[in-house]
Amino acid sequence: MSTVAKLFALPLVLAMLLVQLTLIPVMLPAFLVLLSSSALMAGALKLLHPTQTDEVTNEEFYGSILLLHMKSAWAALAGVVLAIVGPFQMVSALVRSAGSRPANTLRPTSVLITGASSGIGAELARQYAKPGVRLVLTARRVTKLDAVKAQCEALGAVVTAVPADVTDADMMASVVAAADEDAPLDLVVANAGCSESNVPGGSPLWHKAGVVNSTNVMGTVNTVSPAMERMVARGHGQIVIMASVASAGSSTNPSSVSYAASKVWGRAYGQGLRGALKGTGVGVTTICPGFVDSEMVGGKDARKSGWLPSTNCPGFAKRFLESMTMPTDQAVRHMVASIGRNAGVVTLPWWYLASLWAPQMPHYNLMPPFVEYWLAPSGQVKPPAPAGTKKAFRAPSSSEEEDASSPRITERTPSVSSSEEEDMLPSASPSLRKLRRAGRAVRFCVSHLDGLQLSR
Ligand SMILES: NC(=O)c1ccc[n+]([C@@H]2O[C@H](COP(=O)([O-])OP(=O)(O)OC[C@H]3O[C@@H](n4cnc5c(N)ncnc54)[C@H](OP(=O)(O)O)[C@@H]3O)[C@@H](O)[C@H]2O)c1
Repeated sequence: MSTVAKLFALPLVLAMLLVQLTLIPVMLPAFLVLLSSSALMAGALKLLHPTQTDEVTNEEFYGSILLLHMKSAWAALAGVVLAIVGPFQMVSALVRSAGSRPANTLRPTSVLITGASSGIGAELARQYAKPGVRLVLTARRVTKLDAVKAQCEALGAVVTAVPADVTDADMMASVVAAADEDAPLDLVVANAGCSESNVPGGSPLWHKAGVVNSTNVMGTVNTVSPAMERMVARGHGQIVIMASVASAGSSTNPSSVSYAASKVWGRAYGQGLRGALKGTGVGVTTICPGFVDSEMVGGKDARKSGWLPSTNCPGFAKRFLESMTMPTDQAVRHMVASIGRNAGVVTLPWWYLASLWAPQMPHYNLMPPFVEYWLAPSGQVKPPAPAGTKKAFRAPSSSEEEDASSPRITERTPSVSSSEEEDMLPSASPSLRKLRRAGRAVRFCVSHLDGLQLSR
């Protein structure tokens, strides 16, 4: 990092720590007040409407009020937790950036990278290229892709360059399938992306939004989904989603509306996927780079001629922005190391972590990624059953058809839920019923705490 960037980073991090620490005295009382008020409110409602308390609708009503307060209390508690954990996380990022990192355990021998014709994708290809490694590189510009292929072959890798557009779902499914059948994929990097600035056309708002989103959002899905299915089936693999610091918080960015929105999606998708695939043997890393020297931000030559912003930029501002731009090889070395240790979310440079976290603080539903990952139940996603064991579709036989067309007399059974059955039991005393109802109200609250996802 350059001296200018360091000078900027230090006060920024200190300011973020200060903001986070000041949240503790604000959020802790809020948590206590909300939690106790939820109990008081439930009690008061019970006293005011004692005659209605036996109705199921009321049970739901109380449940929803309790739920509202519990959510708010969770918001406050999350604020406290973030305020305490945030600084630790930052310090740990600082320590890790200073050297002591978990080991890079991934030694991929079969890798697929989209958007490999230039910038980050091309550099990732070069850094993974070595003898014994099979690379499948995709992009649309054939000449550029072939140049990268030649560089990687010179480094000893076996390379297949496939001209493909990530917005074409069928094409991507067949590219992934062919690559995986050739050599089972260890690593798939959904890197291809574009921003308003490098999509030709008129207004970014109405001419470019579709292109940016279909490339960055659906392009990622089209790459990741077919690979994920195969990786989960064999219980091994690593998926990488290239987001951006443009996804900071629940970021909106008036100067690149669709790009920022697509990268918010990318980060959310990557983080969610990581939890969803927990226990399957498939890891997910979401990378959020800051400025990296590539075609997207103008490239070296363009930078020399003043890439950012090309006009009306005071010299000092331009020098500052340029000083924050990471050389591609340096940025990609960080990425490769982070992918290797199955990092959840990677921010480059590390101090952008502050910008990713700070705006999330007041929001009850957004937890630090490792807490979300920790809470996610393992084994939600199961590998598909082997083809032979699948139930084949069978047309009904003629006798079955006859049966289906002829009127049937079926025994009608009353639809009574197990909880209603319990209450109808003659042995259930009034206090036991009340207890059961209270239990159901608590279950109702818990099952709706979507932030915590406890019910799943
Ligand atoms: N550079 C940065 O500062 C920065 C910061 C944060 C995040 N990122 C992300 O990093 C990723 C790579 O960007 P970069 O900086 O390396 O920029 P880049 O040099 O412009 O590379 C973009 C790559 O995506 C490919 N691509 C674009 N649209 C495609 C499509 N429809 N189908 C297939 N390939 C497509 C391009 O290849 P073809 O044109 O040949 O198809 C190119 O190889 C992007 O997702 C970007 O959002 C970059």
